[in-house]
Amino acid sequence: MASHLTSASLATLLTAGMATVLFASAAHGVGTQGAPRHLHFYMHDSSTGPKPTTVLIANGTGQPLKGSGGSARFGDTMVMDDRLTEGPTPASRVVGRAQGFYVTASQGDPAVLLTMNVLLADGPYNGSSLAVVGRNNVMMPERELAVVGGTGVFRMATGYVLWKTASWSGGSAVLELDAFVYVSPAAAGA
Ligand SMILES: *[C@@H]1O[C@H](CO)[C@@H](O)[C@H](O)[C@H]1NC(C)=O
Ligand SMILES: *[C@@H]1O[C@H](CO)[C@@H](O)[C@H](O)[C@H]1NC(C)=O
Repeated sequence: MASHLTSASLATLLTAGMATVLFASAAHGVGTQGAPRHLHFYMHDSSTGPKPTTVLIANGTGQPLKGSGGSARFGDTMVMDDRLTEGPTPASRVVGRAQGFYVTASQGDPAVLLTMNVLLADGPYNGSSLAVVGRNNVMMPERELAVVGGTGVFRMATGYVLWKTASWSGGSAVLELDAFVYVSPAAAGA
């Protein structure tokens, strides 16, 4: 059904990659203004099963999106609460959650406007969060979204996230995210 395809496509976009780098960078301690912290991890997004991590909350009323076979439409809106792990497998160590929503906001490409809070729950950034916003075209090999802020260690942070689909099957996707985050010196000294 329409929502199924949409969920799968959108899920794929989201999941690509947060775990590894974040924790590697942590070994170097607090970053300086010129050196972004690198966080690497994976995001597990699934619209199927008894406890889906992403749900369709509104069917778009616009035209069908290219390549969706008619199952995804301009205006489809999803909410997600995805696990973030260090590695790509579901059993990998959990390092946080990605909570947010995305809406198909392009009349042509299968591209969504995505906004999410990345809540970190492990390592040196435990308790801090990143605010991420951007355009996510699920068909592109790599997407770039913006880090527009954060909390805790990441208060007033800026940066970007490189987003890839690691795997995609049915309504489930694993996304690989690399976040490069510039920590505000002002916030660090606060
Ligand atoms: C969206 O459309 C599908 C297919 O018609 C339907 O099964 C589903 O309940 C709808 N979801 C919402 C949130 O309207
Ligand atoms: C993260 O912080 C919370 C709250 O302080 C704490 O309960 C939890 O054990 C910490 N997790 C890890 C993996 O350090």
